[in-house]
Amino acid sequence: MMQLTMSLRRKALDILALSDPSEKLCALQEADLLECETGTEEDLLAGSDKQGICLPGRPPRPVLVSPRVVEHRSVHTPEGRAILIHALCHIEFNAINLALDITWRFAGLPPGFYQDWMRVAQEEALHFALLHNHLKQSGYAYGDFSAHNGLWDMAQKTQGQLIARLALVPRILEARGLDVTPALRHKLFSAGDKKGAAILDIILRDEIGHVRIGNHWYRWACEREGLDPLQTASQLAHDYDAPALRGPFNLPARRQAGFDEIELLQMQQTLSSYI
Ligand SMILES: [Fe+2]
Ligand SMILES: [Fe+2]
Repeated sequence: MMQLTMSLRRKALDILALSDPSEKLCALQEADLLECETGTEEDLLAGSDKQGICLPGRPPRPVLVSPRVVEHRSVHTPEGRAILIHALCHIEFNAINLALDITWRFAGLPPGFYQDWMRVAQEEALHFALLHNHLKQSGYAYGDFSAHNGLWDMAQKTQGQLIARLALVPRILEARGLDVTPALRHKLFSAGDKKGAAILDIILRDEIGHVRIGNHWYRWACEREGLDPLQTASQLAHDYDAPALRGPFNLPARRQAGFDEIELLQMQQTLSSYI
């Protein structure tokens, strides 16, 4: 079992370092979640600064800019739809890297933890591929527009603490995706982009599973450290300056993703305290 977790972590780190999106995708598709090879924690850590590579590997474009200056256009123009699909591609590219990062970075967890997150990385790669093919059909490619780095910033902030990573990335940022996806899907569908809408259906279905995995391991980690999950979530959101919760929530999707009624109530109360 030790060997399995080490081989998954090493694989995740190697794929995280790849900068070419299609190489990253191929490597993930080929990754065998049951494969074993030997290695030690020291080898892995040595690997993390091999050749002084910068993590995550990413292509030279898109140019990363502040969220305030990324392009926006109406989805009723072909360019506007391409900008939206490009923004979603970028979210999925970051999501691949986030899942790979949580897989390699945190030691000493059960094998199921590493397998779950590698599987998430594989699904994020599928989302990226679906969106990127769709973008290419409209004559654009990943990198043609600017993008912002908000998702990866949160990965960096929480790299020293597993519970913080789980509390902030899957349970806040990815869960936000559950809330906004139905409206985006509707926007694309009404603009005549049925293919885009169908891709968002697949993404929403899979993302419920990702948030569920995040909730499962968050509670597991809280229990291991004797922490109260509810209180800890508010504390971490405060300590790590999490983005303010925004509504309305997609309650059915959040329930399926494993948020319980008390958590949902607490989140709704936080929302109303902003008003
Ligand atoms: Fe995704
Ligand atoms: Fe996801």
